[in-house]
Amino acid sequence: MAPGSSSHNRLLSRRRALHLCLGTAACLSGAVIQRKMPLVVQRRSSVYNNREFVVDGQRALKDRAAAKGILYGAEINHQQLSADSDLAAQFIQECALLVEGGGLKWFLTPSPLRPAPNTFDFTAADWMLRFSQTNQVKMRGHTLVWHQSLPPWFEETVNNRNAEQVMHSHIRTVAGRYRGQMHSWDVVNEAIRVQDGRSDGLRKSPWLEFMGPDYVELAFRITAEMDPNAKLVYNDFGLEFGSRKSDAKRESVLQLLSKLMSKGTPVHALGVQGHLDTTRPINSSKLRNFLADVAALGLEIFITELDVTDRSLPADAATRDRVIAGVYEDFLSIVLDEPRVTTVTTWGLSDRYTWLSEFFPRSDGLPVRPLPLDSDLNRKLAWNAIARAFDNAPSRTII
Ligand code: XIL
Repeated sequence: MAPGSSSHNRLLSRRRALHLCLGTAACLSGAVIQRKMPLVVQRRSSVYNNREFVVDGQRALKDRAAAKGILYGAEINHQQLSADSDLAAQFIQECALLVEGGGLKWFLTPSPLRPAPNTFDFTAADWMLRFSQTNQVKMRGHTLVWHQSLPPWFEETVNNRNAEQVMHSHIRTVAGRYRGQMHSWDVVNEAIRVQDGRSDGLRKSPWLEFMGPDYVELAFRITAEMDPNAKLVYNDFGLEFGSRKSDAKRESVLQLLSKLMSKGTPVHALGVQGHLDTTRPINSSKLRNFLADVAALGLEIFITELDVTDRSLPADAATRDRVIAGVYEDFLSIVLDEPRVTTVTTWGLSDRYTWLSEFFPRSDGLPVRPLPLDSDLNRKLAWNAIARAFDNAPSRTII
């Protein structure tokens, strides 16, 4: 687009408006909807009333992203993909990257990877890798070291004498099996929890308790040894918002990443999960500065688990869809301005399957609508919003 052209100016003024808007809590809290206060709902959701989520053509999200040097994909799991051929077809059409949402966690029913201390069950993960390779979709591994989804046997088996060996053998076996075949690994997930009160911000997880703070570095080193071609990611949530809590979390994550980088640890990207909530305002300058600081460390940034909960929005589906779409577009317009943001994955593709139905359901019992496709696999306004954010994003080099 030529600078000074009318579409360039339109884009600039849209960006400026966005900038001003998102710079103030009052504005994005424009998206704050209290179902018990319909007037407030009306006034606040009206921020997006005049936005036309019109997109050019029908091209898939992965193609629009690729045109700007961005990889787009989504989380999906083995049960969904193997049982739902319509979803599989949509997935292949829209996505260039697949994140297996459960099969590479230590223990998630119905097909846990680590059923017993000395056994591994790769059925689900192997199937997903075959699917991704057959369909020319790259695959991300999620996740090697996390405080959640630990097996029932973990507590009685793992202690400070054997934790290092247990972690070592897990990473060697899992990352080793898929050596050379993964786009990236979420090596350590959610290791920061400022409320736990440590000066380094580390979460008091079993890993920290048994191995001390160096477990993070060790996990990256072992993974790099087992799969030197995969991009290794530190992944966390709650980094997106304007609150003091988010400020503190950003600071601790930066401190962790700087320390890892200064020791030459093989960490290649920060994963910003991006679980957005219409009640939690974003401060665009804080977010931009944070991403620039991460980029200055030499890291890439992946948006890894993007979705927008509608649990505080009114029942009307059209209103919900419009606000959700606005939040997607505003967030992506900010983060995609940072050229080191190279990958965007939504946490699910269709409202037919989303963790939010279980973890953040609506109190009125209505089905949630947080993802780009509705439960009939039709494109929603959120799809248009993501498509437009890719279309308007500056180009970057595919790294
Ligand atoms: C969620 C999955 O989507 C659910 O199916 C599972 O039961 C619980 O975990 N942050 C993460 C993801 O890093 O692993 C979580 O996924 C969502 C929050």
